[in-house]
Amino acid sequence: MPANPPRAFVMGHPISHSRSPMLHGYWLKHYGIPGSYEMLDVAPEAIPDFFKGFRAAGWAGGNVTVPHKTAVIPFLDRVDPAATAMGAVNTLWWEGEALVGGNTDAIGFLGNLDHAVPGWDKTARKAVVLGAGGAARAAAYGLQTRGLSVALCNRTVEKADALARHFGQGVSAHGLEDLDGLMAGCDLLVNATSLGMVHQPANTLDLSPLAPGAIVYDVVYVPLETGLLKAAKARGHRTVDGLGMLLFQAVEGFRHWFDATPDVTDELRRLIEDDIRAKTPGA
Ligand code: ATR
Repeated sequence: MPANPPRAFVMGHPISHSRSPMLHGYWLKHYGIPGSYEMLDVAPEAIPDFFKGFRAAGWAGGNVTVPHKTAVIPFLDRVDPAATAMGAVNTLWWEGEALVGGNTDAIGFLGNLDHAVPGWDKTARKAVVLGAGGAARAAAYGLQTRGLSVALCNRTVEKADALARHFGQGVSAHGLEDLDGLMAGCDLLVNATSLGMVHQPANTLDLSPLAPGAIVYDVVYVPLETGLLKAAKARGHRTVDGLGMLLFQAVEGFRHWFDATPDVTDELRRLIEDDIRAKTPGA
């Protein structure tokens, strides 16, 4: 059972790049909550032993990151509906005696959008999501829960097909050749590919077919303002950046482990922005 004061972790391999300790550390200090958040490098072959010792270690729970988001599932007592839909777990917590795995990426995706463009879903009906990886899954799942129809557009159309079949009604799959037509009729365009990220090819998407009222959301957050968002701003679109998704997805975990609902403040955002700039020249 959880130790007092509560201890939480982020586990991954490698893990030194994770910004979660900075994020949760900020909230613990800001709210004066006794507790800790630790960074654990757990190699894939060490996962069974990690879970064998989980109760004895007194963990309140933690975050799971690459490459363990699917590998941890067999060690859990239960997986929540979002993690089931996404086939990936990013947050662990206790519910009574049960160790539960959830996925807060869709909550983060939506929380960030709600914060940046309040009331956006009162009128938005159609979304186009570029990509078919983990980030696209979270976006599609989240948007589906808000009743939008989602067109998944991916370079490898087979991956979009598989995802659309997985999500069922309201999610369609397309190759990039359909993009211009889909953009003309959408209310929200989401980049959930790695294009535009540092060390990745630039995102050279031509936004001219996009409906003028459409919102443009880029899940990439290094650099903080991607080329896509710059281009969208220049055309007068409302834009949403990816850093907020990282911040908002963390709220649920903190709430479970430390029994307090933290705010995503401007001060927290600046702290993480400064860290990104310090580690990525030009970001
Ligand atoms: P994540 O889990 O972060 O979403 P991922 O699973 O590696 O990352 O997915 C990356 C996405 O970016 C994929 O949709 C990928 O397209 P493919 O499925 O065709 O690989 C997309 N992507 C990466 N590089 C791309 C490129 N140069 N052009 C178009 N799409 C690209």
